[in-house]
Amino acid sequence: MTRFLEDDHRRLEKLLNKAMITGGRIDQGHYDEFRSGLLRHIGMEEKILLPAAQRSNGGAPLSIAATLRLDHGAIAALLMPTPTPELIAVLRSILNKHNEVEEGLDGLYAICDKLAGAETDDLMAKLRAAPAVAVLPHSDTPAVLGAVRRALERAKYEYLSDSMPSS
Ligand SMILES: [Fe+2]
Ligand SMILES: [Fe+2]
Repeated sequence: MTRFLEDDHRRLEKLLNKAMITGGRIDQGHYDEFRSGLLRHIGMEEKILLPAAQRSNGGAPLSIAATLRLDHGAIAALLMPTPTPELIAVLRSILNKHNEVEEGLDGLYAICDKLAGAETDDLMAKLRAAPAVAVLPHSDTPAVLGAVRRALERAKYEYLSDSMPSS
């Protein structure tokens, strides 16, 4: 399972790199593929992995669950505005930290790998069957930019919100 999800992280990193064209331009096709893939990935973690890890933990959420969920909120919010090189830099810096926590020795993926064998097969089947996610057109309204800032602040990334466009 760790392997499957780490491969997805690497695949998404490559898509984001492909979306970055020299001169600070962004290839919308690749960026949309990245957004859709990342939202599906987050959905797998929120709807399948975190609940499974919680069940195996006697029903109590993992200590890292709240942080991971707040990160997901910040990441999903950052996918809404029109991307700029500054926004992508913020997104990359959050993703790098976040993926490190998930991939760590006692991270989310390692915990899920320790679940009972039968359950692992069931989880893998559910991950593979996770539905594709459609992306919305970008929006740069004050409401959206405000939501991005608040999501960054909730996830303790307020130091990054200075490089975001203001509403
Ligand atoms: Fe995640
Ligand atoms: Fe992940």
